[in-house]
Amino acid sequence: MQWKDEYSVGVAEIDDQHKGIINLFTEIDAAIESRGSWADVFFKLEQLREHARFHFALEESLMRMHGYSKLAEHAEQHKHFLGKLDQLQMTTLSRQVTMSTISYLSTWYAEHMQTQDQDFVRYIIDNGKVNLTHLPTA
Ligand SMILES: [Fe+2]
Repeated sequence: MQWKDEYSVGVAEIDDQHKGIINLFTEIDAAIESRGSWADVFFKLEQLREHARFHFALEESLMRMHGYSKLAEHAEQHKHFLGKLDQLQMTTLSRQVTMSTISYLSTWYAEHMQTQDQDFVRYIIDNGKVNLTHLPTA
């Protein structure tokens, strides 16, 4: 999976976190393709989970802080992603992970950045209540 400019939400710190997640997808693809050990794939998915949880918590905190009306709906989407990731990780334990199973998650994430994430960041910027230049990076 490659970063594309159309994924940008317009805030460098959030884009950097998204780029980190995309890099992990690329590493997972490589681990599957190289037919490395199932434990390598499992470990990469664990890194993705940790990174995603940190990142989702940050996004949801921003939404909460700014009274974003679609917070519950957005948080549900994050839960969906983590649930699918759980299922995929369990699959690695029976050694059946293929590129098509991981591509569901990467396609989902590309879509999420371009819809829900761009929407909430636009809301926060339009409300002009926050300095988005000093967010922590993952
Ligand atoms: Fe999000």
